[in-house]
Parts: sequence; structure tokens; C-alpha cells
Amino acid sequence: MGFAEDFLWGAATSAAQVEGGFEMDGRSPSIWDVAPKEKIANGENCHDSAMQRTHYQEDVAIMKKMGLKAYRFSISWSRVMPKPHFVSRKGIQYYSDLVDELLKAGIEPLVTLYHWDLPLWAYELDGWESEALVPHFVEYVETVVTALSDRVRYWITFNEPSCFLMNGYMQGVHAPFKRKYLSLPRITRVFMLCNKAAVEAIRNNAILSPKVGLSFAFGVYLPEVKRDKASEEAAYIKSFSKQMGVMNNAWFLKPILEGKKVRAYGIYHTKGKPAVEYQVKFDFIAINVYSAFDYGSYGGNPHIDRSKVKYDAIGNAIDGDSLYYAVKFLYRRYHLPILVSENGMAADKEKVEDGHVHDSYRTDYIKEYLSSLKKAVNEGNEVIGYCHWSLLDNFEWAEGYRTRFGLIYVDWQSKERTIKDSFYEYSKIIAENGRSL
Ligand code: NOJ
Repeated sequence: MGFAEDFLWGAATSAAQVEGGFEMDGRSPSIWDVAPKEKIANGENCHDSAMQRTHYQEDVAIMKKMGLKAYRFSISWSRVMPKPHFVSRKGIQYYSDLVDELLKAGIEPLVTLYHWDLPLWAYELDGWESEALVPHFVEYVETVVTALSDRVRYWITFNEPSCFLMNGYMQGVHAPFKRKYLSLPRITRVFMLCNKAAVEAIRNNAILSPKVGLSFAFGVYLPEVKRDKASEEAAYIKSFSKQMGVMNNAWFLKPILEGKKVRAYGIYHTKGKPAVEYQVKFDFIAINVYSAFDYGSYGGNPHIDRSKVKYDAIGNAIDGDSLYYAVKFLYRRYHLPILVSENGMAADKEKVEDGHVHDSYRTDYIKEYLSSLKKAVNEGNEVIGYCHWSLLDNFEWAEGYRTRFGLIYVDWQSKERTIKDSFYEYSKIIAENGRSL
């Protein structure tokens, strides 16, 4: 069976991580532009990162040469709306040009509307802590959809709500670096109201018939005994009801997809409000999968011999089964087409040698995860695409530029691009539609 002929073989990025040009187009700062130096490794910032803002034509030409079928990127809200109720003509034009460039190259644009870079002005109006954000977000979504939906069909409302809410407002490790545990029900509610309103805004304003989803940071528990039915059943149940299965998965999936409330940290997110208020109809579910919960520090499997596990440079355990079971368990539960919107690995010692980057470990990673994905597809789970994270080396949030995730190496000084060996290998897989995996 294998991958469908129209499978979306892609790569992903986000605005704050690769775009740079933080003051171009009349753009105003996001919460990441003003992150205090001491919060980011080596005091770095995302102000110019990979400069896709000025290198986008070159990047699209590389994507075309490598045979990519899809590019997932995000829109910087503060480039499009540098202040409340004000649209920057140049800001929206940039995304329109990028979309045109992609379509000319035969590449499907997959647009993420929010990938963590809240405009500073919106934060100053209380950001995710205030329902006042909802109409501002809707206005932004309507602006983007009106400008691009004559050419864009795939819309991802949010990227990894569990991360930007919990890391940003509870753990204090991501912008805006707050540690307010008790704000969880409120920020969850504001996010879910924005999501619901965004889905409606897309459906009401889109010109091309839209396909709408959200990228969840999805993970599962693996069966303790492989190929054992009872063990797999236990892992499936735990993945939606225990420890990380509740906090990371059920907390977001159940209200949004099932209209049901969830209790975590001893609290409900709905504060007496019916969870059905947050329920939406998606056309697909997008998932970002790097690892499985078993390897994590909270709720991990104590029986795993960690000395035998392979880790990437930011500590994600490498195990292709993480993707196989993620797809299988999610499809079993929701029966919606799945887009793997992120999957990839960080490395910390990459360099260009004679015009090449020899990252055979990344090629191995891609082959391991894509073989697992193919196994899931062959068992009848509907998967519409795979986006490798990342197209380019990127600003990795609090980790700054310490590690590299890209299929394309970026020289941080000159912004020169070098296609890594792994991208040539990924390109071969795309050309034969994954037949040899
Ligand atoms: C998930 C996030 O969406 C992305 O922004 C980040 O760079 C990757 N994971 C890698 O950590």
C-alpha cells in the first residue's frame, strides 16, 4: 500500500525561529523579541535568525530542487498587525509573495497562524490571561485568511498549545517567562476560545475550501511488551488518561475534539463552563512527534535502561516507535486524517566541510521514523503528510542557536545556506514516494 500518491512530503519552520527581519515591514516586537538575555542560551535573540524574510526565494528554490511537496511555515502576527486594528500592507504582502513563490514551485503552503510569537502589544493587554485577546486574534485571522485563502488551503490554527501555555505561563522557561501555576484554567480557556473563533473565522472567510487543523505536541506511552495485545491496550488507555497522557494530551484533545472536560493538577479547565464551548470540527489533526512519554522525566518508565537509549542534542530520546504508536493511537481515537507537522532531531557539532554537512545520524533518524510511519500507513491509519523539523537551522527558543535541527545548514554570520547530506537522502525518499523504506 505505502504512501498515497498525493502525500504531502514537507518540511516545517516558524516565523520567530527562521524569519528574522524583526523590524522590516513596520513589524513590532513579539514577546520573543524582548526576551531578557539571561533567559536565552548565550544571551542570543531571534532578531535575524536565518533571515528567511530576505532569503525566501532562495529557500523556495532549494525546496523545489529537493522535490518538497509542502512547506509548513507560520505567520508573524506582529508583522501583519504591528498594533491593534492596524494592518501592515507590507507585512501581509510578504506572506502573499512567499505563497506565490511556493505555488510557482509546485509546493503546497501549510500555514500556521500562531507559533508562539504573541505581539508585545497583545501581551500588554494581558495576553493569554484575558478574554479580551479573542476579538484581536479573530481580526488577525480574518485579515490573513482574506489575503491568502485564494491560494492557501491548509490552515493550522495553533502550534503546540501545551508548550506555549505551560512553558510560558507555568514553568517560566519560554516567553513571557511567567510562573503562575494558578493561571492554567484561565489561559487554557482563552486559548480554546481563540481556537474556536479562529476555526469559525477561517470557515466563514476562506475562498478556497479550507482544511483546518491544529498542531498538538502529541506523545504516547509505548506498550511495555511489543506485539502484545494487552500491553498495547494498556498503553493506549494510559496515553489519554494517566500522567502526561492527561496533562499533555487529554487536557487539550478532549475539550477541543470531544467537548468533554478534564481534571488535571486537581483542577478542571472549565471553571464551571461546559467544555462543549471549546469543541470544533477539524478536517485533520496535526501532530508534532519527537519522542514517547516513557523516556520523559515526569511519568517516564523507570524500567528503561537509559544508558542504552539514543538521545539527540536537546535530550529527546530517539525511537521510531514513538511515531508509529502516536499515529495508531490518535487515529484509533479520532478517526481523522493525520498530518505529522513536525519530527526531527537536534545536533550540536555540525559544520560545513568542502561544501557538505555530513549528518548521517539525521539520515538514519529520518529513515527510522519514516519506516515507522509507513508501517502505520500500511495498517490503514490515514496520514496525509509528513513535515520534517526543520527546513533550516533555527533559533531554538531558550536554547538559542546552540543546536541545529535543519535539513539546510545556515551560517549564522553570512546567512549562507548549505544543503545537508540528510536532505539529499530525504529528497531520494520523496522521489520514490517512500517505496524503499
Ligand atoms: C516543537 C516546536 O513546535 C518547534 O518550535 C521547536 O523548534 C521544535 N519542537 C524542536 O524542539
